[in-house]
Amino acid sequence: MRLKEITLKQAIDPGHIMQTATAFWASKTLLTAVELNLFTVLGERSMSATQLGDRLGLHPRGTYDFFDALVALRFLDRDGDGREGKYKNTPESNAFLNKSNTTYIGGIIEMLNSRLFGFWNNLGTALKTGEPQNEVKQSGKSMFAELYADKARLGQFLEAMSGVQAGNFLALSDKFDFGKYNTVSDIGGALALLARVVGARHSHLRFKSFDLPPVAPHAQQHVDDAGMGDRIEIISGDFFENELPTSDVITMGNILHDWNLEKKMILIEKAYRALPEGGAFIAIENLIDDARRENAFGLLMSLNMLIELGDGFDYTGADFKKWCTTVGFKRFEFIGLAGPASAAIAYK
Ligand SMILES: C[S@@+](CC[C@H](N)C(=O)[O-])C[C@H]1O[C@@H](n2cnc3c(N)ncnc32)[C@H](O)[C@@H]1O
Repeated sequence: MRLKEITLKQAIDPGHIMQTATAFWASKTLLTAVELNLFTVLGERSMSATQLGDRLGLHPRGTYDFFDALVALRFLDRDGDGREGKYKNTPESNAFLNKSNTTYIGGIIEMLNSRLFGFWNNLGTALKTGEPQNEVKQSGKSMFAELYADKARLGQFLEAMSGVQAGNFLALSDKFDFGKYNTVSDIGGALALLARVVGARHSHLRFKSFDLPPVAPHAQQHVDDAGMGDRIEIISGDFFENELPTSDVITMGNILHDWNLEKKMILIEKAYRALPEGGAFIAIENLIDDARRENAFGLLMSLNMLIELGDGFDYTGADFKKWCTTVGFKRFEFIGLAGPASAAIAYK
């Protein structure tokens, strides 16, 4: 098609292509601002570009471009212009990107920056080989063994997971009828965030949060800090080696997508065995729409599983229903949670 034909015949423009092609500029600008602690340094204050640049140790060449790009991207506000301008956090940046606040979700952003930004540079290799492109590429170990061998990286990964799921667990506590049940086992419970969030809203519930042994001290610390030690039990184990702890509800947040179909089916069968008649199995994931056309985040998350785990993959509600029906679950329900995430529920 010639340029003239394009302009005359169709109202099309390359804007969307260019916006996506350069999206990593905006992404890396935000990731770097978090890396430099910009939102934490600003806190509740406002600062001139010179003051803020000095506090962050920045060369003057980039400061105005960097801070003003963050204004244009709506991660900062600015009172006044030019040298008189004073930068301050937006309400969202202060709530979610300032480390001094308990609502900080920067853990996932720190991990996106320090691990995934680089690994995604090898997406093409992943697509050609079907092999992960993260730390396991060098070590040959499994991803969790590799991550958990380094204490700082384990801590970062666990905090990152919490940042991703906090809003979903809050939505689940409001939208799912926990009133009918007494006990919940969260499988792969990481820092026991689900138990802490749902437990805070439903005081009658008791929880078991099950994860690998290196995770337990971190989880216990968070449970103790929340003063919920009498209602949340931290259990160490391997969900492929051990049976799952029995309870009225079994939850798995972003667990099934880590594994290939064979391992997914092992976990679904174990969940079925651990539930009583009428019990509920809840997967909290970025479920892909059945036609695989709409939930771009879910589809990109599945590519992220390729980068991280190779054969792990995200799935649709129809997939979940089919797999769970195979092992005996009878009834299904799907509830939208925060953003692109859903709760897929199978009743025994
Ligand atoms: C992607 S994270 C999800 C964490 C949390 N459920 C959430 O929704 O954010 C996967 C979790 O599964 C745990 N995990 C991985 N392999 C496991 C295994 N074999 N047995 C028990 N837990 C395991 C990891 O330690 C990690 O906490």
